[in-house]
Amino acid sequence: MPLNALIEVRAALHRLLPPVVTSSAGLIADHYPPLHPEELAATGRMTAGRRQEFAAGRAQARRVLQGLGLASPVLPVGDDRAPRWPDGFVGSISHAGELVVAVAAPCTLLGALGVDLEPGLPLETDLLKRICRPEKLSRLAASTEPLRQAKLIFSAKESVYKCVAPQLGIFLDFPDLEIFFDQKEERFHAQGHGKAAALIGPHTVTGRFAAAGGYWLTTAWASQGFLARRSIPKRRSTPE
Ligand SMILES: CC(C)(COP(=O)(O)OP(=O)(O)OC[C@H]1O[C@@H](n2cnc3c(N)ncnc32)[C@H](O)[C@@H]1OP(=O)(O)O)[C@@H](O)C(=O)NCCC(=O)NCCS
Repeated sequence: MPLNALIEVRAALHRLLPPVVTSSAGLIADHYPPLHPEELAATGRMTAGRRQEFAAGRAQARRVLQGLGLASPVLPVGDDRAPRWPDGFVGSISHAGELVVAVAAPCTLLGALGVDLEPGLPLETDLLKRICRPEKLSRLAASTEPLRQAKLIFSAKESVYKCVAPQLGIFLDFPDLEIFFDQKEERFHAQGHGKAAALIGPHTVTGRFAAAGGYWLTTAWASQGFLARRSIPKRRSTPE
């Protein structure tokens, strides 16, 4: 029932995100207004399905930015494939299954923002060692639903990546991040490893998660000024 799932995801977004973040969620299959020519330029080689989810993401992103006071925002695709948010705003888009979500906030109030939605199905077993660091595998094995928990780890890493990578101008792989959950509070934080160790500490990113409508929803944000504390100039990322 996609409508029930949508209602639950919307409620979770409101519950998890700080008040400075505006969010929007919808059905990928809905009818959306045409893309702006600058956005359309990226869709030439997309399949019809991919184009529909791309347009749905752009429409939800436009909706949140209009809620933040922009009349007709445009979100072209950047070199790193991340949306280029209008100057003065940070944001993030995710689509999964039948749903699409977008979140945004003014840069004066938040330094970085990420969101990820994943169907709440178990992670494929052969991906386990790629997604989870070795120290996590033994702890997961002791949990009641290890592969479902592993899917949550996957989503949390994706939202942290979307939050920090465009701002720091780095590429991160799954072993570069370790996620620590507070299950009762629906919170998590991330710790970087290797090249990310000095960039991402336990207080860099605030993470929240929820099981909603059969999906895992994860969000991650960094406070305004996090780039200054990392002493890295803002630039667009290119994979290393
Ligand atoms: C960006 C990425 C994380 C998206 O993950 P996904 O769960 O498969 O797909 P989602 O629907 O949740 O997100 C896709 C959206 O993320 C956004 N996105 C794409 N590249 C991005 C980037 N480099 N930074 C931030 N956001 C990005 C886009 O809005 C995209 O949708 P669109 O192309 O329709 O606009 C993934 O495609 C990727 O590039 N991964 C490489 C890095 C990685 O995963 N490292 C391991 C985690 S540390």
